[in-house]
Amino acid sequence: MANTDPIRVGVLFSETGVTSTIGRSQRRGTLLAIEEVNEAGGIGGRELVPVMYDAQSTPAIYAQHAERLILEDKVNVILGCYMSSSRKAVLPIVEKWNKLLFYPTLYEGFEFSNNIIYTGAAPNQNSVQLAEFMTANFGARVYLVGSDYIFPYESNRIMGELVLQRQHSERVAERYVPLQATEKDFKPIIDEIRLLQPDFIFSTIVGDSTACFYRAYAEAGFDPKKMPIASLTTSEAEISQMGASGTGHFTSAPYFQSIDTEVNRRTLARFRARFGEDSVPNLCWEAAYFQTHILANALISAGTDDLAQLMPCILGSEYDAPQGRVRIDPTNHHTCLHPRIGVADSRGRLRIVRQATRPVYPDPYMVTHSLGDWATELNALEL
Ligand code: ACM
Repeated sequence: MANTDPIRVGVLFSETGVTSTIGRSQRRGTLLAIEEVNEAGGIGGRELVPVMYDAQSTPAIYAQHAERLILEDKVNVILGCYMSSSRKAVLPIVEKWNKLLFYPTLYEGFEFSNNIIYTGAAPNQNSVQLAEFMTANFGARVYLVGSDYIFPYESNRIMGELVLQRQHSERVAERYVPLQATEKDFKPIIDEIRLLQPDFIFSTIVGDSTACFYRAYAEAGFDPKKMPIASLTTSEAEISQMGASGTGHFTSAPYFQSIDTEVNRRTLARFRARFGEDSVPNLCWEAAYFQTHILANALISAGTDDLAQLMPCILGSEYDAPQGRVRIDPTNHHTCLHPRIGVADSRGRLRIVRQATRPVYPDPYMVTHSLGDWATELNALEL
Protein backbone atom coordinates (compact mmCIF):
# COMPACT_ATOMS: atom_id res chain seq x y z
CA MET A 1 0.00 0.00 0.00
CA ALA A 2 1.24 3.52 -0.81
CA ASN A 3 2.78 5.49 2.05
CA THR A 4 0.36 8.31 2.94
CA ASP A 5 2.17 9.54 6.07
CA PRO A 6 2.71 13.29 6.08
CA ILE A 7 6.25 14.64 5.64
CA ARG A 8 7.12 17.08 8.40
CA VAL A 9 9.42 20.00 7.70
CA GLY A 10 10.77 22.49 10.26
CA VAL A 11 9.91 26.18 9.72
CA LEU A 12 12.09 28.35 11.95
CA PHE A 13 11.75 32.11 11.63
CA SER A 14 11.09 35.02 14.02
CA GLU A 15 7.53 36.16 14.63
CA THR A 16 8.75 38.49 17.38
CA GLY A 17 11.84 40.59 18.08
CA VAL A 18 13.92 43.08 16.10
CA THR A 19 14.00 41.20 12.79
CA SER A 20 10.44 39.85 12.91
CA THR A 21 9.19 42.03 10.04
CA ILE A 22 11.37 40.01 7.67
CA GLY A 23 10.98 36.78 9.66
CA ARG A 24 7.19 36.94 9.41
CA SER A 25 7.38 37.53 5.67
CA GLN A 26 9.77 34.56 5.26
CA ARG A 27 7.43 32.33 7.24
CA ARG A 28 4.44 33.38 5.15
CA GLY A 29 6.38 32.94 1.89
CA THR A 30 7.24 29.41 3.07
CA LEU A 31 3.63 28.66 4.04
CA LEU A 32 2.29 29.91 0.69
CA ALA A 33 4.61 27.48 -1.12
CA ILE A 34 3.69 24.59 1.21
CA GLU A 35 -0.01 25.25 0.58
CA GLU A 36 0.59 25.30 -3.18
CA VAL A 37 2.47 22.00 -2.98
CA ASN A 38 -0.34 20.37 -0.99
CA GLU A 39 -3.04 21.73 -3.31
CA ALA A 40 -1.15 20.18 -6.22
CA GLY A 41 -1.19 16.72 -4.59
CA GLY A 42 1.58 17.01 -1.97
CA ILE A 43 4.69 14.83 -2.09
CA GLY A 44 3.39 11.92 -4.17
CA GLY A 45 0.10 12.07 -2.27
CA ARG A 46 1.73 12.74 1.13
CA GLU A 47 0.96 16.04 2.81
CA LEU A 48 3.84 18.42 3.52
CA VAL A 49 3.33 19.61 7.11
CA PRO A 50 5.17 22.61 8.61
CA VAL A 51 6.30 22.34 12.24
CA MET A 52 6.85 25.94 13.35
CA TYR A 53 8.48 27.76 16.24
CA ASP A 54 9.11 31.44 16.90
CA ALA A 55 12.86 31.99 17.31
CA GLN A 56 12.31 35.54 18.67
CA SER A 57 15.20 37.09 16.71
CA THR A 58 17.60 35.43 19.18
CA PRO A 59 20.41 33.11 18.01
CA ALA A 60 20.37 30.91 21.16
CA ILE A 61 16.62 30.32 20.72
CA TYR A 62 17.21 29.39 17.06
CA ALA A 63 19.71 26.76 18.22
CA GLN A 64 17.31 25.38 20.88
CA HIS A 65 14.38 25.14 18.47
CA ALA A 66 16.53 23.63 15.72
CA GLU A 67 17.55 20.82 18.07
CA ARG A 68 13.96 20.38 19.24
CA LEU A 69 12.76 20.14 15.62
CA ILE A 70 15.36 17.47 14.94
CA LEU A 71 15.15 15.42 18.16
CA GLU A 72 11.49 15.76 19.19
CA ASP A 73 9.65 16.58 15.97
CA LYS A 74 11.91 14.31 13.93
CA VAL A 75 12.29 16.60 10.94
CA ASN A 76 15.13 16.05 8.47
CA VAL A 77 14.89 19.50 6.87
CA ILE A 78 14.54 22.98 8.41
CA LEU A 79 13.58 26.07 6.41
CA GLY A 80 14.75 29.07 8.36
CA CYS A 81 16.95 31.88 9.73
CA TYR A 82 17.43 35.53 8.80
CA MET A 83 20.36 37.06 10.69
CA SER A 84 23.71 35.38 10.02
CA SER A 85 24.16 35.05 13.78
CA SER A 86 21.11 32.75 13.78
CA ARG A 87 22.49 30.67 10.89
CA LYS A 88 25.84 30.40 12.69
CA ALA A 89 23.94 29.13 15.78
CA VAL A 90 21.98 26.51 13.79
CA LEU A 91 24.94 25.34 11.65
CA PRO A 92 26.63 23.13 14.32
CA ILE A 93 23.25 21.59 15.22
CA VAL A 94 22.40 20.50 11.66
CA GLU A 95 25.98 19.29 11.19
CA LYS A 96 25.93 17.32 14.47
CA TRP A 97 22.70 15.48 13.57
CA ASN A 98 23.35 15.42 9.81
CA LYS A 99 20.15 17.31 8.91
CA LEU A 100 19.60 20.04 6.33
CA LEU A 101 18.96 23.79 6.68
CA PHE A 102 17.60 25.81 3.74
CA TYR A 103 18.67 29.44 4.39
CA PRO A 104 16.68 32.08 2.43
CA THR A 105 18.71 35.20 3.18
CA LEU A 106 21.45 37.27 1.58
CA TYR A 107 24.58 36.97 3.70
CA GLU A 108 28.29 37.77 3.94
CA GLY A 109 29.59 34.60 2.21
CA PHE A 110 32.78 32.81 3.24
CA GLU A 111 30.92 29.74 4.46
CA PHE A 112 30.10 26.28 3.22
CA SER A 113 28.34 23.46 4.99
CA ASN A 114 27.30 20.12 3.56
CA ASN A 115 24.18 20.60 5.70
CA ILE A 116 23.10 24.02 4.38
CA ILE A 117 21.57 25.18 1.10
CA TYR A 118 21.99 28.96 0.66
CA THR A 119 19.27 30.59 -1.48
CA GLY A 120 19.96 34.29 -0.79
CA ALA A 121 22.65 36.35 -2.49
CA ALA A 122 26.37 35.91 -1.80
CA PRO A 123 28.50 39.10 -1.96
CA ASN A 124 29.40 38.58 -5.64
CA GLN A 125 25.65 38.71 -6.39
CA ASN A 126 24.81 41.97 -4.58
CA SER A 127 27.82 43.83 -3.10
CA VAL A 128 29.98 43.83 -6.23
CA GLN A 129 27.15 45.28 -8.34
CA LEU A 130 26.29 47.84 -5.67
CA ALA A 131 29.92 48.97 -5.29
CA GLU A 132 30.21 49.33 -9.03
CA PHE A 133 26.99 51.32 -9.33
CA MET A 134 27.54 53.62 -6.35
CA THR A 135 31.16 54.45 -7.16
CA ALA A 136 30.34 55.09 -10.84
CA ASN A 137 27.44 57.40 -10.02
CA PHE A 138 28.33 59.06 -6.72
CA GLY A 139 32.03 58.57 -5.90
CA ALA A 140 34.12 56.18 -3.81
CA ARG A 141 34.29 57.82 -0.37
CA VAL A 142 32.07 55.48 1.64
CA TYR A 143 30.76 55.74 5.19
CA LEU A 144 30.04 52.25 6.58
CA VAL A 145 27.37 51.81 9.25
CA GLY A 146 25.86 48.57 10.50
CA SER A 147 24.19 46.62 13.26
CA ASP A 148 26.55 45.02 15.73
CA TYR A 149 26.97 41.40 14.53
CA ILE A 150 28.75 39.25 11.98
CA PHE A 151 26.90 40.09 8.73
CA PRO A 152 27.55 43.85 8.96
CA TYR A 153 31.22 43.40 9.99
CA GLU A 154 31.92 41.11 7.06
CA SER A 155 29.77 42.97 4.52
CA ASN A 156 31.42 46.25 5.43
CA ARG A 157 34.85 44.67 5.05
CA ILE A 158 33.89 43.44 1.56
CA MET A 159 32.34 46.76 0.50
CA GLY A 160 35.38 48.61 1.89
CA GLU A 161 37.71 46.44 -0.20
CA LEU A 162 35.58 46.79 -3.33
CA VAL A 163 35.45 50.59 -3.29
CA LEU A 164 39.21 50.76 -2.74
CA GLN A 165 39.59 49.54 -6.35
CA ARG A 166 38.42 52.99 -7.46
CA GLN A 167 40.47 56.18 -7.68
CA HIS A 168 39.90 58.76 -4.91
CA SER A 169 38.38 56.08 -2.70
CA GLU A 170 38.24 56.20 1.07
CA ARG A 171 36.60 54.27 3.88
CA VAL A 172 35.57 57.44 5.60
CA ALA A 173 34.42 55.72 8.82
CA GLU A 174 33.04 52.40 10.03
CA ARG A 175 30.49 52.47 12.87
CA TYR A 176 28.22 49.97 14.60
CA VAL A 177 24.98 50.40 16.52
CA PRO A 178 23.10 47.89 18.72
CA LEU A 179 20.47 45.70 17.05
CA GLN A 180 17.85 47.57 19.07
CA ALA A 181 19.26 50.99 18.11
CA THR A 182 17.00 54.00 18.51
CA GLU A 183 17.27 57.69 17.65
CA LYS A 184 19.87 58.44 20.33
CA ASP A 185 22.23 55.82 18.86
CA PHE A 186 21.98 57.43 15.42
CA LYS A 187 22.57 61.01 16.60
CA PRO A 188 26.42 60.75 16.67
CA ILE A 189 26.36 58.90 13.33
CA ILE A 190 24.29 61.64 11.70
CA ASP A 191 26.58 64.30 13.18
CA GLU A 192 29.65 62.51 11.85
CA ILE A 193 28.14 62.08 8.37
CA ARG A 194 27.40 65.82 8.31
CA LEU A 195 31.00 66.52 9.23
CA LEU A 196 32.70 64.03 6.89
CA GLN A 197 30.41 64.40 3.84
CA PRO A 198 31.05 60.98 2.25
CA ASP A 199 29.94 60.25 -1.34
CA PHE A 200 27.53 57.59 -0.12
CA ILE A 201 26.56 55.61 2.97
CA PHE A 202 26.66 51.81 2.97
CA SER A 203 24.11 50.65 5.54
CA THR A 204 24.23 47.12 6.91
CA ILE A 205 21.69 47.98 9.59
CA VAL A 206 19.03 45.28 9.87
CA GLY A 207 15.60 44.99 11.48
CA ASP A 208 13.41 47.62 13.08
CA SER A 209 16.22 50.16 13.58
CA THR A 210 16.58 50.51 9.79
CA ALA A 211 13.53 52.79 9.67
CA CYS A 212 14.90 54.80 12.57
CA PHE A 213 18.19 55.43 10.72
CA TYR A 214 16.59 56.46 7.41
CA ARG A 215 14.17 58.77 9.26
CA ALA A 216 17.01 60.42 11.17
CA TYR A 217 18.85 60.81 7.84
CA ALA A 218 15.86 62.49 6.20
CA GLU A 219 15.25 64.72 9.23
CA ALA A 220 18.90 65.82 9.10
CA GLY A 221 18.12 67.23 5.64
CA PHE A 222 20.63 65.08 3.72
CA ASP A 223 19.81 64.91 0.01
CA PRO A 224 19.72 61.33 -1.41
CA LYS A 225 20.47 62.75 -4.89
CA LYS A 226 23.87 63.93 -3.61
CA MET A 227 24.63 61.51 -0.75
CA PRO A 228 22.40 58.42 -0.91
CA ILE A 229 22.27 55.39 1.33
CA ALA A 230 23.06 52.06 -0.35
CA SER A 231 22.05 48.77 1.24
CA LEU A 232 21.62 45.03 0.79
CA THR A 233 18.97 44.67 3.52
CA THR A 234 16.67 47.68 3.16
CA SER A 235 13.83 45.94 1.33
CA GLU A 236 10.21 46.87 0.66
CA ALA A 237 9.44 45.55 4.17
CA GLU A 238 11.76 48.02 5.94
CA ILE A 239 10.72 50.83 3.59
CA SER A 240 7.08 50.22 4.53
CA GLN A 241 8.08 51.01 8.13
CA MET A 242 9.74 54.34 7.34
CA GLY A 243 7.27 56.17 5.11
CA ALA A 244 8.80 58.61 2.65
CA SER A 245 12.24 58.62 4.34
CA GLY A 246 13.40 55.81 2.03
CA THR A 247 12.82 57.80 -1.15
CA GLY A 248 15.87 58.09 -3.42
CA HIS A 249 18.01 55.50 -1.61
CA PHE A 250 19.35 52.33 -3.28
CA THR A 251 19.16 48.60 -2.56
CA SER A 252 20.90 45.74 -4.35
CA ALA A 253 18.93 42.47 -4.42
CA PRO A 254 17.86 39.68 -6.78
CA TYR A 255 14.19 40.36 -6.09
CA PHE A 256 11.97 43.42 -5.96
CA GLN A 257 8.17 43.43 -6.07
CA SER A 258 8.38 45.58 -9.21
CA ILE A 259 9.83 42.75 -11.37
CA ASP A 260 7.63 42.72 -14.43
CA THR A 261 7.06 39.03 -15.11
CA GLU A 262 3.99 36.84 -15.16
CA VAL A 263 5.45 34.49 -12.49
CA ASN A 264 6.07 37.40 -10.13
CA ARG A 265 2.67 39.00 -10.67
CA ARG A 266 0.89 35.68 -10.12
CA THR A 267 2.87 34.87 -6.98
CA LEU A 268 2.23 38.33 -5.49
CA ALA A 269 -1.49 38.03 -6.28
CA ARG A 270 -1.74 34.60 -4.63
CA PHE A 271 0.19 35.82 -1.60
CA ARG A 272 -2.04 38.86 -1.13
CA ALA A 273 -5.21 36.79 -1.61
CA ARG A 274 -3.98 34.41 1.11
CA PHE A 275 -2.27 36.74 3.62
CA GLY A 276 -3.67 40.19 2.81
CA GLU A 277 -1.41 43.06 3.79
CA ASP A 278 -0.11 41.16 6.82
CA SER A 279 3.46 40.95 5.47
CA VAL A 280 5.30 42.90 2.80
CA PRO A 281 6.93 40.77 0.05
CA ASN A 282 10.69 41.31 -0.23
CA LEU A 283 13.90 39.54 -1.29
CA CYS A 284 13.93 37.17 1.72
CA TRP A 285 10.22 36.38 1.29
CA GLU A 286 10.91 35.40 -2.32
CA ALA A 287 13.89 33.19 -1.39
CA ALA A 288 11.79 31.53 1.34
CA TYR A 289 9.04 30.90 -1.23
CA PHE A 290 11.15 29.46 -4.04
CA GLN A 291 13.42 27.35 -1.82
CA THR A 292 10.33 25.57 -0.45
CA HIS A 293 9.29 24.66 -3.99
CA ILE A 294 12.84 23.48 -4.72
CA LEU A 295 12.68 21.28 -1.62
CA ALA A 296 9.21 19.96 -2.54
CA ASN A 297 10.28 19.09 -6.09
CA ALA A 298 13.32 17.24 -4.70
CA LEU A 299 11.12 15.39 -2.19
CA ILE A 300 8.84 14.32 -5.04
CA SER A 301 11.80 13.10 -7.13
CA ALA A 302 13.46 11.31 -4.20
CA GLY A 303 10.19 9.94 -2.78
CA THR A 304 11.63 10.45 0.72
CA ASP A 305 13.16 13.08 3.02
CA ASP A 306 16.10 10.81 3.78
CA LEU A 307 19.06 13.12 3.11
CA ALA A 308 21.24 10.57 1.31
CA GLN A 309 18.56 10.27 -1.36
CA LEU A 310 17.24 13.82 -1.18
CA MET A 311 20.50 15.76 -1.62
CA PRO A 312 21.27 14.55 -5.17
CA CYS A 313 17.78 15.73 -6.17
CA ILE A 314 18.35 19.21 -4.65
CA LEU A 315 21.85 19.83 -6.01
CA GLY A 316 21.74 21.15 -9.56
CA SER A 317 17.96 21.61 -9.46
CA GLU A 318 16.28 24.63 -11.05
CA TYR A 319 13.07 26.54 -10.46
CA ASP A 320 11.16 29.36 -12.19
CA ALA A 321 11.15 31.79 -9.26
CA PRO A 322 9.54 35.25 -9.21
CA GLN A 323 13.05 36.76 -9.84
CA GLY A 324 13.65 34.42 -12.85
CA ARG A 325 15.03 30.90 -13.21
CA VAL A 326 17.32 29.95 -10.31
CA ARG A 327 19.62 26.97 -9.87
CA ILE A 328 21.23 25.37 -6.82
CA ASP A 329 24.92 25.03 -7.54
CA PRO A 330 25.95 21.43 -6.87
CA THR A 331 29.52 22.27 -5.82
CA ASN A 332 29.03 25.13 -3.34
CA HIS A 333 25.34 24.78 -2.29
CA HIS A 334 24.63 28.43 -3.11
CA THR A 335 22.22 29.61 -5.82
CA CYS A 336 22.55 31.16 -9.29
CA LEU A 337 20.54 34.39 -8.99
CA HIS A 338 19.61 37.57 -10.91
CA PRO A 339 21.25 40.66 -9.35
CA ARG A 340 19.38 43.95 -9.60
CA ILE A 341 19.59 47.46 -8.17
CA GLY A 342 16.48 49.37 -7.17
CA VAL A 343 15.81 52.91 -6.03
CA ALA A 344 12.97 53.60 -3.60
CA ASP A 345 10.18 55.86 -4.81
CA SER A 346 7.85 57.97 -2.69
CA ARG A 347 5.27 55.16 -2.59
CA GLY A 348 7.74 52.75 -1.00
CA ARG A 349 8.38 50.72 -4.14
CA LEU A 350 11.83 49.85 -5.43
CA ARG A 351 12.11 50.81 -9.08
CA ILE A 352 14.72 48.71 -10.91
CA VAL A 353 17.56 50.78 -12.40
CA ARG A 354 20.06 47.98 -13.15
CA GLN A 355 19.51 44.35 -13.98
CA ALA A 356 21.79 41.35 -14.62
CA THR A 357 22.21 40.35 -18.24
CA ARG A 358 22.32 36.68 -17.19
CA PRO A 359 22.03 34.68 -13.95
CA VAL A 360 25.12 35.22 -11.80
CA TYR A 361 26.94 32.15 -10.53
CA PRO A 362 27.43 32.19 -6.72
CA ASP A 363 31.04 32.77 -5.63
CA PRO A 364 30.73 32.82 -1.81
CA TYR A 365 34.49 33.02 -1.29
CA MET A 366 34.82 35.98 -3.68
CA VAL A 367 37.51 34.21 -5.68
CA THR A 368 36.81 36.85 -8.32
CA HIS A 369 36.01 40.20 -6.84
CA SER A 370 37.21 42.80 -9.26
CA LEU A 371 34.85 45.59 -10.24
CA GLY A 372 34.11 45.59 -13.97
CA ASP A 373 34.07 41.79 -14.10
CA TRP A 374 31.96 40.61 -17.07
CA ALA A 375 30.39 37.85 -14.97
CA THR A 376 28.70 40.27 -12.60
CA GLU A 377 27.83 43.05 -15.06
CA LEU A 378 24.41 44.71 -14.95
CA ASN A 379 22.37 46.28 -17.75
CA ALA A 380 21.47 49.92 -17.38
CA LEU A 381 17.79 50.79 -17.26
CA GLU A 382 16.92 54.44 -16.82
CA LEU A 383 18.38 55.98 -13.64
C1 ACM B 1 22.08 38.66 7.43
O1 ACM B 1 22.39 38.73 8.64
N1 ACM B 1 22.55 37.67 6.69
C2 ACM B 1 21.21 39.66 6.83
